Amino acid sequence: MLRLNRRTGYAAWAGLPFDFTCPSLSGYPFQWFWDSCFNAIVLRHFDIERAKRELLTLMSAARGDGFIPHVIFWESGAFPSHVRRYAIARDGHTSASIQPPVLAQAVAAIWDSSQDRAFLDAILPKLWRFHRWLIENRDPDGDGLISIVQPDESGMDASPRYDRLMKLPQLTRSGYREAMRRLFRVYRAARAEGREPLDLDAFSVEDVAVNAIFAEGCRSLARLSLAAGAAAAGEEFASQSRRTSQALLAKCWDPRRGLFFDLAGRDERPESIAAVASLMPLILPDLPSEIATRLVEEHLLNPEEFWPPYPVPSVALNEPSFMPGRGPLWRGPTWINTNWWLARGLRAHGYEGAAQELTARTAALVSRSGFREYYNPLTGAGYGARGFAWSTLVVDMLQSP
Ligand code: GLC
Repeated sequence: MLRLNRRTGYAAWAGLPFDFTCPSLSGYPFQWFWDSCFNAIVLRHFDIERAKRELLTLMSAARGDGFIPHVIFWESGAFPSHVRRYAIARDGHTSASIQPPVLAQAVAAIWDSSQDRAFLDAILPKLWRFHRWLIENRDPDGDGLISIVQPDESGMDASPRYDRLMKLPQLTRSGYREAMRRLFRVYRAARAEGREPLDLDAFSVEDVAVNAIFAEGCRSLARLSLAAGAAAAGEEFASQSRRTSQALLAKCWDPRRGLFFDLAGRDERPESIAAVASLMPLILPDLPSEIATRLVEEHLLNPEEFWPPYPVPSVALNEPSFMPGRGPLWRGPTWINTNWWLARGLRAHGYEGAAQELTARTAALVSRSGFREYYNPLTGAGYGARGFAWSTLVVDMLQSP
């Protein structure tokens, strides 16, 4: 399947060759940022050179200031509906948004498998610039937490966590599309006057999952920097990782409910919807053990919340907004990439048995319904795109010791 989804060629608009794995030939024929990172993590088990090219292709779209777009339309012109949906950069071939920064972790996985110093040296300067861009441009209050400026930037598009900010008391597909258009209209008008999205505070979220992934990315980047003999960068990103983890604990942890919640807007209003993002800080090895215990024992393994027959649902089963079936994305169904993260998080905190159980149930789900985009957590039915590349992460889960 990863062979089928491979796209190679030469993009005349960029003057660059490309070699990447699209999420799905039917629904998503372009290069997406975090999809490519996950695909590279799986590809390294089969074809390490191709895994490297996947990431080198992604990074070849980096701007000079470090920013890397969340979608790159290498083969231009073909699918205008996606192009209309996203905020597109002036070049007309890349989006103007980010996605969760999984890149350093994907590079670390390839480094661990290959010890290829030339690859590491080629990629590190761009990785440093990308992380510094996030810190300089997405953390205006300097608290260590980076902000997203529209829902797709979290990779969890229509999550009910954003309904309030998107002014969506009742969700419909057309209402959601209109809310996105409304937001992009505001941004376009502001950009024309030289103002940036975060200046407007129209949608700014210090997102728990994005920041847990960012902290973990900075930790990986620190390790890679040290491996390349760059001690100062090693210290810079180790300290950023600690800052972000500590800010998550200080500002997003709700000790009463035992979950983490996003902060919305410049005045940092805590949100309250229990979703898979609320568990994501489990991936941080420096999370205090009493907090990891609460996340796992009160919530993740709780059959009323996050532990149905096919865990882990993207929204807790007991949330009024939970929807197990087909529909707007990330409102209840199980996704394989978050299972991959959480299995790692469980292992990092000594829950080996639960990590194995989650892996076994994920494998059963994919065996039953194939490599689909997302799955019903109650019945295991598969929905959305077929031949969905990152669902192959189950292979990496099965490889883990
Ligand atoms: C959907 C997902 C997003 C993913 C994209 C391509 O929009 O929500 O996370 O990157 O599809 O697979």
